[in-house]
Amino acid sequence: MVSKSITVKSLDPALGAEVKGVDFRLPLTPEVVSQIHNAWMEYQVLVFRCQPISDKQHVAVTRYFGEPEVFHQNIIKSKFVKEIFRVSNTDENGNLMPPSDPIQQQLSSAKKWHTDSSYRAVPAMGSLLHGIEVSRTGGLTCFTNMYKVYDALYPKVRDLVDGKKCRHDFEHLSRISGARRPSKDEKASMPAVWQPMVRKHPVTGRKSLYISPIYNDKIEGMDDEDAVALINELAEFAGQEQFVYRHKWEADDIVMWDNRCTMHLVTPHDQNERRVMHRTTIIGDGPVLAA
Ligand SMILES: [Fe+2]
Repeated sequence: MVSKSITVKSLDPALGAEVKGVDFRLPLTPEVVSQIHNAWMEYQVLVFRCQPISDKQHVAVTRYFGEPEVFHQNIIKSKFVKEIFRVSNTDENGNLMPPSDPIQQQLSSAKKWHTDSSYRAVPAMGSLLHGIEVSRTGGLTCFTNMYKVYDALYPKVRDLVDGKKCRHDFEHLSRISGARRPSKDEKASMPAVWQPMVRKHPVTGRKSLYISPIYNDKIEGMDDEDAVALINELAEFAGQEQFVYRHKWEADDIVMWDNRCTMHLVTPHDQNERRVMHRTTIIGDGPVLAA
């Protein structure tokens, strides 16, 4: 196997880098995997352009970095490759779904800041999103650097979150988005969890604010209304330009992000324009470590 080096170029002072010299259709050497992992830890979000891969290759790439998650709802996961989460407004026969479709309503909650699978006891480590049919009318994915957000919190606000836990409940999504309520079985398989609001990254050791506003409905020791108001204020603070990279998609981009220290959202786009994106999610490396 010929060993080679990748090149990594920062995309924004906030976070994000573009990686060149990688072809995800071919096996990766341990050296390249290690270089990508190092860049991922340094920049939190990596962009790989021109990667026309199949869903199976997408899953294989994901496995270099961890175990792919199988989503708990049949309505969103692919019927063909179970590790693929369909962030798409078409069904698997290629038909456009109306915005009123419950799947579309659930996916539309991604227009608000969140981090993937934070409602699991062991939340996701990362995600890899493949742009297959990309939007021209919007549909940018924005990422915010939660290390920088934590470092920039006013001392008074930091006192409100340090040592505190907030609740992450998958069902909260349906309360705020109009998506269908989880079934009894889905609810039983996904009970709400409490996660520290400040976490310590298991690799970098850095502290970050850890919230996921589409799932957060409670903060310990706080009235629920005040808790949601504080979460919304923190999300607004986190969304300031100096913390954010906005990714404009080209077909066959793969974007890989670290869910432990970033949040993301999608910007609005014309719902009648096809947008087909396939995501894999990497299972986390243990319960959230309090800072
Ligand atoms: Fe997401």
